[in-house]
Amino acid sequence: MKYIIGNWKSNKDSREVTIWFETFAKLYKKNKTGKLNNLKVIICPSFVQLVQAKQLVISHNLPIKLGAQDVSPFANGPYTGEVSATQLKELVEYVVIGHSERRNNFQENGGLLVQKVVMAIKERLKPIFCIQGPKTTIPPGVSIAAYEPVWAIGSGTAETPENAAKIARQVKQNKLANLVVYGGSVTPENVCGFLAGSSIDGILAGGVSLDPVKFWQIIVNAASL
Ligand code: PGA
Repeated sequence: MKYIIGNWKSNKDSREVTIWFETFAKLYKKNKTGKLNNLKVIICPSFVQLVQAKQLVISHNLPIKLGAQDVSPFANGPYTGEVSATQLKELVEYVVIGHSERRNNFQENGGLLVQKVVMAIKERLKPIFCIQGPKTTIPPGVSIAAYEPVWAIGSGTAETPENAAKIARQVKQNKLANLVVYGGSVTPENVCGFLAGSSIDGILAGGVSLDPVKFWQIIVNAASL
């Protein structure tokens, strides 16, 4: 099973979300193959679009799971602006925690990220915990780690599949996570290089996931392996 994860970051309004799912659904219905069963496709829209995205996944009958891009380190309560794991659990199965954009722009680090993982797991959400390399601490209970070197994110220069596989193996050998995906300038052209071996369990795409045609092409290429 390989994971194909799309992180939309702070993009799309409700009209664009509708168009994305309509376009994706057309491609899926025209081209679906049994092989898609070997892929787990996860889309992470922003909080405000999760309800709409869930409705569209259901109405188009798509094999897509949803993830949030972040979660509150607190339970429900007086935390203005935060979205708790308890609120998220009826909408998503996954949650991205510790993305470098949150670490760098919002000073998120160590203890705070551990607390986010704790809250996610409490509500049975699966954390997709982003690491910048083998030195990033991974909190206990993380099932999926996402190796995302900062220099590769949005730069058009991806990590080499060999290095990404090496880091994935290190993480697994140290029993820090069962699954490791790679993220950073993944494209339809380079996706197969990352997924060809057994070390890397999937990819996390940012920019390319905004375009349903390109995201579908990633899926088709991954399914062809
Ligand atoms: P990118 O982003 O695919 O646009 O490089 C990846 C990410 O930040 O997860």
